[in-house]
Amino acid sequence: MKKVGSQVTIAIDGPAGSGKSTVARQVAEKLGLLYLDSGAMYRAVTVLAIQDGLTVESPELIERVKACHIEFADNGRTILLNTEDVSVEIRTPPVNRLVADIAKIPEIRHEIVKHQQRIGAEGSIIAEGRDLTTIVFPHADFKFYLDASVTERAKRRLADLKKQNVDITLAAVEAEISARDEKDRTRAHSPLRAAEDAIIVDTTDKTIDEVVDFIITQICEGEGGSK
Ligand code: DC
Repeated sequence: MKKVGSQVTIAIDGPAGSGKSTVARQVAEKLGLLYLDSGAMYRAVTVLAIQDGLTVESPELIERVKACHIEFADNGRTILLNTEDVSVEIRTPPVNRLVADIAKIPEIRHEIVKHQQRIGAEGSIIAEGRDLTTIVFPHADFKFYLDASVTERAKRRLADLKKQNVDITLAAVEAEISARDEKDRTRAHSPLRAAEDAIIVDTTDKTIDEVVDFIITQICEGEGGSK
């Protein structure tokens, strides 16, 4: 691996359901890296808004977000919002519907990006989301952009939701993912896009293991970086 013995930053971006969370978590485990699920942070502040009965228009929303405390435990498996474990709640349909609108707000992004950069400064990390390769860690040692067809991504998300006993159709999940893609790609601040120096990986016909192996090979051969 490049820069052996020093701090390594690996950033992965991609749309919902592209496999980046599962892949990043497995790479983190195999290489002993800290794992940062940046979407979980936007989801946690969305839970905060819902719990407090706030909308994106509420004037107090930004101050509430600035004052809240978000922390990860168990290498990213657990997320705590003001010490409350919201790991399950962040994946529920009401949060899925609202999170892209919350994540559009520049002041909220600014707070969350600062927090992510502080976490990244603590040691070697693999971080995934929508703007990790472009805004949060523009000088990451390795950058990847994972993508897949919208139908394949909807099937993956449906399988996750079924495990949580959420009753929803494939068409509904596909519509929700398409709506979220559109918001994530067209927003004014930090839209989802592939960084020019990111390696693009189409995961539509690939297994998780294949993508994990590909990324680990790139890292170990030291060829995926922006530096
Ligand atoms: O990766 P995810 O589905 O958990 O992300 C949830 C939402 O958070 C997604 O609609 C866009 C937003 N997000 C973002 O704007 N920037 C990130 N770095 C990560 C997620």
